[in-house]
Amino acid sequence: MTTLLQIIATPRTGEASRTRQVARHFVDAWRAVHPTGDVETVDLGHMELPPMDAAMIAVLFDSPSHASKEQLARRRKVLDELVGQFKAADSYLFVTPMWNFGLPATLKHYFDLVIRPGWTFALGEHGPVGLLGGRTAHAVITRGFDYGPASPNAAHNHLEPHLRSLLGFMGIEELSVVAVEGTMLPGIDDRMEEGIRAATAMGLGLVAA
Ligand SMILES: Cc1cc2nc3c(=O)[nH]c(=O)nc-3n(C[C@H](O)[C@H](O)[C@H](O)COP(=O)(O)O)c2cc1C
Repeated sequence: MTTLLQIIATPRTGEASRTRQVARHFVDAWRAVHPTGDVETVDLGHMELPPMDAAMIAVLFDSPSHASKEQLARRRKVLDELVGQFKAADSYLFVTPMWNFGLPATLKHYFDLVIRPGWTFALGEHGPVGLLGGRTAHAVITRGFDYGPASPNAAHNHLEPHLRSLLGFMGIEELSVVAVEGTMLPGIDDRMEEGIRAATAMGLGLVAA
């Protein structure tokens, strides 16, 4: 059985969220192609991630700490669950708006937790090596203004490049993206329709990374 893990980084829900609206079509198409597949969801807008405090850093890097044994055990338990779920997936769908030119902080925080030595990357002789090779990633992205390749704002789009670096660090080299530009600009209904068509095609596996 194959597992798709969708990681949602907007707190808006239902029709209020442009990104969720488009992503839903990806998931429906994916389910049609993988009738026995499993879809798991990490809804970052509606959960509390554990803090990246000194105890968590000690657990993450297996380094010394002044934290109590109980605190370290608590942090380890929740980190093991999060990273275990991430590692167990065969493919990923990132559902994220652009926030101030990049990833919403919750999604960055999630990556800070799941990018874990010995779990998702290893320290090799020549530096870090990703351990999640062979998995595929998809992203549905929306943004209020236009940062498309032909727009004068393109250089300020730090979202996809950052996402590619984070995933590539873990060995996930394949990332396909559907981006809907200008959700706060006129003409958005047509661009949403186009985004939904593209997300459906991506969910059906018709879009190459
Ligand atoms: C805190 C915050 C920061 C944002 N920063 C940007 C930005 O830098 N560039 C942009 O084009 N839109 C920005 N937006 C707009 C969102 O990217 C846009 O409205 C998006 O479609 C929201 O997706 P959602 O409806 O799924 O939440 C921002 C929105 C919020 C709430």
